[in-house]
Amino acid sequence: MTLLIASLDAMEQLGAALATAARPGETIALSGDLGAGKSTLARAILKALGFAGEVPSPTFSLILPYDPPEVRIPVIHADFYRLDGAMELDELGLDAGDPALLIAEWPERVGGLAGPDTLQLRIEGTDASERLLIAQPGENWQARWQQIAGGQF
Ligand SMILES: Nc1ncnc2c1ncn2[C@@H]1O[C@H](COP(=O)(O)OP(=O)(O)O)[C@@H](O)[C@H]1O
Ligand SMILES: [Mg+2]
Repeated sequence: MTLLIASLDAMEQLGAALATAARPGETIALSGDLGAGKSTLARAILKALGFAGEVPSPTFSLILPYDPPEVRIPVIHADFYRLDGAMELDELGLDAGDPALLIAEWPERVGGLAGPDTLQLRIEGTDASERLLIAQPGENWQARWQQIAGGQF
């Protein structure tokens, strides 16, 4: 399922739509090359969830948590770029029962993230500001993703 994102502004609108749709305990897995826009989308989601501050890249800390009241629902922003695949999620302090929304960049570095509560998004195209989004919504995301993808971006 692909979705054309025409501009940076459109990516921010997508972030807002995802923030409205996402529920605690779910995962949004963001794939794509360096500069594709994974962190930009993660920031847009956090902003739409109410976070007013700067969102640093978790490239070095690997995971950065955000908790209410700064955000409407708890969020863990993760960037697994620096991992080599040998590390397990629970070694990072992440467990499946965590009530936070996990927004994870470079999920393939931890063997990939999938499952009924995971929305897998791959962002392609690094020229100018147009992006192509390839989505693999887990079972529980399918109806919500259809609705989001039917919106204007
Ligand atoms: N439509 C778009 N969506 C996301 N980022 C865009 C878009 N158009 C331009 N950009 C720019 O591309 C860059 C993406 O960087 P970043 O989000 O850090 O990528 P990544 O986390 O995937 O490495 C930013 O400088 C951003 O402003
Ligand atoms: Mg990034």
